[in-house]
Amino acid sequence: MNSVIQSLQSRNSVKLVQAPGPSDEQLEQIMQAAMSAPDHGRLRPWRFKRIPAEHVGHLLDLAVQALADEGTPYTEAKIISTRRWLEQAPVILAVACYIDHSNERIPHQERVLATGAAVMNILNASHALGYAGYWSTGLGTYTQAVPEALGFDELEYEFMGFVTIGTPIAEVRPKERPNYKEFYSEWTP
Ligand SMILES: Cc1cc2nc3c(=O)[nH]c(=O)nc-3n(C[C@H](O)[C@H](O)[C@H](O)COP(=O)(O)O)c2cc1C
Repeated sequence: MNSVIQSLQSRNSVKLVQAPGPSDEQLEQIMQAAMSAPDHGRLRPWRFKRIPAEHVGHLLDLAVQALADEGTPYTEAKIISTRRWLEQAPVILAVACYIDHSNERIPHQERVLATGAAVMNILNASHALGYAGYWSTGLGTYTQAVPEALGFDELEYEFMGFVTIGTPIAEVRPKERPNYKEFYSEWTP
């Protein structure tokens, strides 16, 4: 099988990852791969912000507070497991879609889809380089305070969560994937 196809078909999301993560050069390759996502109107709506290791604790505190304030608090156990997830992940990216209000031609949905496609390229490029990625909309993604603190004000951005990248901590077992034929048919007018 063609190696690119093989890589695409073997990708798995892995939440718990540790060092080594991608080198600076590899991270550049991964992020550049995101720039090849399809993008109607060349709006380049995707925005990525790396969370440095020294600020992970602050981000978690923010999320815990925001979730409590909005009436959906994390349990102590959830706080501990989330801290373990974030503190071990070599790369943490916050993802947002910039809503350029000056452009009224391209529907909102298409901008969000383009950003999602950019994340997909990040996940696939990470996997191709021997790492694993994971997209999460936990950690207060849908609160008001977390996106705002990250600089993604809800008036201008659709906040789309976090991506972590690194080396899987446990062995990754191949997942059973559905047969595409369940989702594919030929149109008969
Ligand atoms: C936009 C988006 C947000 C997600 N957020 C979460 C999440 O918060 N928690 C979770 O358990 N899985 C979440 N997932 C699912 C995982 O990232 C992953 O796709 C899932 O575990 C299936 O693994 P696979 O990608 O190997 O099929 C999300 C997926 C997407 C596309």
